[in-house]
Order: sequence, then structure tokens, then C-alpha cells
Amino acid sequence: MKRVVVCMGCCCPQLGGTELLAQLQEKLKERKDVLLQDSECIGPCSQGPNVVVNNKILYRAHTQEVMNELNSAPTQEEEE
Ligand code: FES
Repeated sequence: MKRVVVCMGCCCPQLGGTELLAQLQEKLKERKDVLLQDSECIGPCSQGPNVVVNNKILYRAHTQEVMNELNSAPTQEEEE
């Protein structure tokens, strides 16, 4: 299972995080191998919208960048 966490804290939604989350929900709705979640603030607010793919933070993330990272990332089981 791969995990994508979109920051929905104080700032990231205003920096495009809301649209990013909606786009990812649409793109990932058929993917049974990906768990998409939102989260409270993860820290680097000024660099948002921030997304975590497994354990890697993507700053100023874009949908395609998240998808590329997701497709190249090992599953969490493979990382362990
Ligand atoms: S609100 Fe996203 S890092 Fe703080």
C-alpha cells in the first residue's frame, strides 16, 4: 500500500491544496493500492501546498508531480 497525505492545515489549502486534493481524489479513486488522506499542518507552511508520498515531502506540490512520485515510489511494505 502506498500512502499520499495532503496537508489541509492553515495555509496549504489557500496555496492550492484544496484543488490538489480534489484532483488527486479523482485520479486515485480507482487505485486500490493507494491510501489518500488529508492532515493537519505538517510544518513548512510557506512552501505549500505540501504533500507526503509515503515518507517523502513534496513542497509546492502539483498533481502530476504527486502522480509521478507515486508511480516511482516503492510500496511501504517494500521500504521496510
Ligand atoms: S498548513 Fe500545510 S504545512 Fe502548514
